[in-house]
Amino acid sequence: MRDYIDGIDGLHGRKIVLGVCGGIAAYKAAELVRVLKKMGADVCVALTGSGARFVSALTFQALSGNPVWTSLWDGQGAGGMAHIALGRGADAILVAPATADMLARLAQGRADDLLSTLCLARDCPLLVAPAMNRQMWERAATQRNVATLQGDGVTILGPAEGEQACGETGLGRMLEPDALAAALLAFFTPKLLAGRRVVLTAGPTFEAIDPVRGITNSSTGKMGYALAAACARAGAETVLVSGPVALPVPDGVCRIEVTSALRMRDAVLAALPGADVFIAVAAVADYRPATVDGHKIKKSGEPLRIELVPNPDILAEVAARPDAPFCVGFAAESRDLDAYAEGKRQSKRLPMLVGNLIADGLGGDENTAVIYDAEGRHPLPRAPKTFIARQIVEHLARLLPAA
Ligand code: CTP
Repeated sequence: MRDYIDGIDGLHGRKIVLGVCGGIAAYKAAELVRVLKKMGADVCVALTGSGARFVSALTFQALSGNPVWTSLWDGQGAGGMAHIALGRGADAILVAPATADMLARLAQGRADDLLSTLCLARDCPLLVAPAMNRQMWERAATQRNVATLQGDGVTILGPAEGEQACGETGLGRMLEPDALAAALLAFFTPKLLAGRRVVLTAGPTFEAIDPVRGITNSSTGKMGYALAAACARAGAETVLVSGPVALPVPDGVCRIEVTSALRMRDAVLAALPGADVFIAVAAVADYRPATVDGHKIKKSGEPLRIELVPNPDILAEVAARPDAPFCVGFAAESRDLDAYAEGKRQSKRLPMLVGNLIADGLGGDENTAVIYDAEGRHPLPRAPKTFIARQIVEHLARLLPAA
């Protein structure tokens, strides 16, 4: 699970009813329960009769820690009203996998088993993740049902393209559990940055010395990626200019991969037109070798001197533009955080800067950060980087001039 992107607490306090239908993708629903639980959700599974032929109720019970509901007729202490009781207090019903048959029955408003009745009697949003053979998906009847459901306000997640259990390749695979969990989290996130374009930098830069060697630093990119994911979830069109890191692209984010500071600067300037916000999270190398050797440098036993020249300060350059977007800087300091961070905010003329002590956050999944703005300092409690990312988005959305 992509903790650094989706957060271990992102669904804390949410009650999710997971409807599982009879398709081979039902085995992935077991993993989905695990991921949703890890993100803090309370998960109750409603399993159809065909779903139970693929994965047993016991599996879902063990993973969710809750009783599994399988029949309209087992009241389970709900006064014979399982279809009402189970949906009450739920924040969403997610049907994953949703078979072609279930889509048809939901589109028609049928109520002939527990899951379809639950969906009809619900007072919360319904999301469905279709999973079926590609021809079943492409069939006009299925597409008609999907359009009907969309018209009724149901959110359709996927399907994805790829190899299918039947051996064919095409559209119809259920989205992976991580992607479904991320989509659910995005669904619940307030769209504080809707209509905004955000450009970010993340990760280290790599300044080549020769074709195989270079100068870099230990930035993992986790904070920048968590922040890009949070911006996208908050509804922003998000462009992430990233140095070399080993992280996948967050959902809804357009990533541009670069290596050196000069390439990062070029990519940022190209992405900037129309941007409302620029967030510089990257640990940009302050210096680069004055020359790059075309061939591998051979050892000679003698001391080797490499002349370094300063790199452009991307953030300062963007913030100094007459049409500058709302600029957010980062400062990682080893001491005197307040003085250095606020000093950087003022010298680069930034409306907002996030500071942290290197010992508190570099490389790990958690951080202790302080936001600095014109009003003063705003310490954030120690938390996972994903949680900090959300708070940064909320803070900048408050400071952002109206569109
Ligand atoms: N930054 C940038 N381009 C650079 C250097 C830094 O965009 N060439 C951005 C970083 O992404 C971060 C902020 O500027 O948002 C960091 O400020 P800076 O003063 O450059 O930090 P350090 O390089 O750590 O400075 P120092 O070594 O003086 O502490």
